[in-house]
Amino acid sequence: MAFTNDNSNTKVLTLAECRKLAEDKDKCILLINNRVYDVTKFLEEHPGGEEVLKEQHGRDATNAFEDVGHSSDAREQMKTYEIAQVDPSDIKTPARPTVVKPSGSTDGVRDDTGSSWTKWVIPLVIAIAAVVLFKLLTKSNADVNRPPTAI
Ligand code: HEM
Repeated sequence: MAFTNDNSNTKVLTLAECRKLAEDKDKCILLINNRVYDVTKFLEEHPGGEEVLKEQHGRDATNAFEDVGHSSDAREQMKTYEIAQVDPSDIKTPARPTVVKPSGSTDGVRDDTGSSWTKWVIPLVIAIAAVVLFKLLTKSNADVNRPPTAI
């Protein structure tokens, strides 16, 4: 099978070899998108804290990693810690499509929260305008129907 590799790392490990590597509890070995990372030296530096990385030791951390919506800077940085790729014959799940958070952004991957207020402000303005218009129209009709008053 052709094995495309867009990274310079050509070392290939089977899942059994990854498990063996992860037996060393002093290390922190992660699998993300079918690549193997040794983040032992990165634990203290990780902006998300070392605990979240330690919890993923010896596991496939793809979902945990992608759910955070790591920035392109983070993805660039992770190349430093890549030690191998998973043997293609051991790959059961295709790599997850990446959702890259813009660098420097502090919020999550959801970006619809900022504009959500427009969803209720516009209908509210229309409703208020309709009420005002209705009141004006009923008022002018009442004026027309009122019998003339004696002077
Ligand atoms: C080699 C692997 C990893 C690298 C290089 C890395 C790098 C980074 C960087 C640079 C940030 C700062 C925000 C950003 O630029 O996106 C960050 C934040 C974070 N990371 Fe990672 N990370 C890795 C793996 C993981 C994993 C596996 C998890 C989850 C188990 C995780 C959870 C988090 C969390 C929760 C934050 C904080 C997000 C926030 O406060 O906005 N990271 N990481």
